[in-house]
Amino acid sequence: MSPRIVVITGASAGIGRATALRLARDGAAVVACGRRAERLDALAGEILAAGGRALPVVADVTSEADMDRLAGAAVERFGRLDVMMCNAGFGVYGAIDAVRPDQMRRLVDVNFMGTYHAARAALPIFRRQAAGHLIVVSSIVGRRGVPFMGAYAATKFAQVGLAECLRAELAGSNIHVSVVFPVSTTTEFAEVMMRESGFATEGHGPTQPAADVADAIAKAIERPVPEVYPLRRARGLVLLNALAPGFTDRVVRRWGRKPIDG
Ligand SMILES: NC(=O)c1ccc[n+]([C@@H]2O[C@H](COP(=O)([O-])OP(=O)(O)OC[C@H]3O[C@@H](n4cnc5c(N)ncnc54)[C@H](OP(=O)(O)O)[C@@H]3O)[C@@H](O)[C@H]2O)c1
Repeated sequence: MSPRIVVITGASAGIGRATALRLARDGAAVVACGRRAERLDALAGEILAAGGRALPVVADVTSEADMDRLAGAAVERFGRLDVMMCNAGFGVYGAIDAVRPDQMRRLVDVNFMGTYHAARAALPIFRRQAAGHLIVVSSIVGRRGVPFMGAYAATKFAQVGLAECLRAELAGSNIHVSVVFPVSTTTEFAEVMMRESGFATEGHGPTQPAADVADAIAKAIERPVPEVYPLRRARGLVLLNALAPGFTDRVVRRWGRKPIDG
């Protein structure tokens, strides 16, 4: 991989952390964003100890000013910005009438507005450079909803709308937009969702390790593609849904998450 300057939101855990380590190993300079300073420092320490380049930046994706500062820090330290990976996010479990408005607002704020702020901070830099790559980490539920994840899925669909329009606007230029659609991934996601929802859930569909998602993202950075399905067969669900959405409703009822004691 040629050296690149990559900003990752939500790099203190899970998919973001795995991608930071993977890209740093490949030679990228990683600007790692999250709210937990000690986690970011530990990640940067690990990358630096292995001979890589890293800059931890404590920043909240819900803040426009923080996202501007984040993108600016990459340019200030490393001279340019090649990739902005909009990854920070979390989930809340429950039927729409069980999810409170304050929980829904928070989901929109972090998952969607966070993507919007980070993309908005990166785009003027990409336009100035006439090059760049926006990577939006959505979810398979950003293509096909599953039961009791409606509040979360709405924000994941919203990310896709933003990314698709932008991709069409930029088609033919050297500014790329890729959307990533992971299936259930072994990260802190379930733990955070338990905290945010107030009860524990377990997944019943296919799962994948965060390192597999990181590998798929690394490949997409090398060779930009519009859509990334780290678990290849997940694309089949999207095709099935386009052809037979009612039948797919019954298929996905078997998957998704369920309360552990429910
Ligand atoms: N795990 C899955 O099953 C799965 C499946 C499909 C898609 N995804 C998507 O993948 C992305 C990463 O999730 P993950 O599974 O890696 O979860 P995770 O292990 O819980 O990591 C989430 C990351 O987001 C950061 N974050 C949360 N709120 C933030 C905020 N306001 N500002 C800045 N950073 C924030 C967290 O850092 P701090 O707490 O330090 O801020 C953490 O680094 C999310 O967008 C998620 O929707 C996950």
